[in-house]
Amino acid sequence: MTVTGKSNGCVWITGASQGLGRALALELVRRGRTVVASARGADKLNELATEAAILQGSGRVVPWALDVTDGPAVAEAVRKIESDVGPIETAVLNAGTHRPVDGRRLKAEDFRKLLDINVMGTVLCLEPIIAAMTARRRGRIAVVASLSGYRGLPSAAAYGLTKAGLINMCESMRPELALAGLTMQVVNPGFVRTPLTDKNDFPMPFLMEPEDAARAFADGLESDRFEIVFPRRFAYLLKLLQRLPYRLYFPLARHMVKDRELAE
Ligand SMILES: NC(=O)c1ccc[n+]([C@@H]2O[C@H](COP(=O)([O-])OP(=O)(O)OC[C@H]3O[C@@H](n4cnc5c(N)ncnc54)[C@H](OP(=O)(O)O)[C@@H]3O)[C@@H](O)[C@H]2O)c1
Repeated sequence: MTVTGKSNGCVWITGASQGLGRALALELVRRGRTVVASARGADKLNELATEAAILQGSGRVVPWALDVTDGPAVAEAVRKIESDVGPIETAVLNAGTHRPVDGRRLKAEDFRKLLDINVMGTVLCLEPIIAAMTARRRGRIAVVASLSGYRGLPSAAAYGLTKAGLINMCESMRPELALAGLTMQVVNPGFVRTPLTDKNDFPMPFLMEPEDAARAFADGLESDRFEIVFPRRFAYLLKLLQRLPYRLYFPLARHMVKDRELAE
């Protein structure tokens, strides 16, 4: 079953109250899906459900407030979603955040926060969702990482650590989950205009609108390829950067740091 095929099951999206997750929820509703939308703030989720209700399309949004760092609450939410709404056919683990880090003034708390939300928040969702999906030998899981996980980038020591870790985790799990009948995908966006990137004070190459990103995201969920990337041209550039030997990469990275210092 593809993500947009008709079924009794639902798509669960974490981090769906704003930004990329919200745009994806609306795109999937347009494509006829029932989307369970999670984030901590209930008000924005209710607004999303109201907006989805007036869209053309046979889908809907079911708001489901949840903090992904609360393990018992996540396990209970998966159980209740499956009993009240229907089997989760696709889980999009998108909740995440960013804190810039300057290596010269490192604060351990920044790392703890990002590891808690971006990594442990994802893993706490994976445990109950994999149990439910393996029991029926069917399901798709898409973990949102980032193109910034390809290589250590300036000011992203903590964020890049979490996103590189998620990419590695998904690579590790894809063949194992395939044996259980599940599809594991990793989603690596470039820059998308969201409340998260609105805080950035540097030029963002190939910046995408969330609606365009959501279409590429939803198309990727209809395929069985491992990696979903957008925008493609930026992804190709970063894949090239990823392959550069250190003796060429570090002078370039040093230049990016210098530029940022001058801009401050
Ligand atoms: N935007 C980009 O350019 C870009 C690029 C690459 C990767 N990404 C990744 O894409 C994902 C979405 O990014 P975005 O730009 O849309 O971010 P955003 O605008 O900051 O939205 C983040 C979403 O996550 C939710 N969230 C945060 N902490 C949570 C928690 N503990 N439990 C449940 N929900 C939580 C937020 O709602 P509440 O605060 O109400 O919980 C919100 O709905 C993130 O994983 C991000 O790292 C984004």
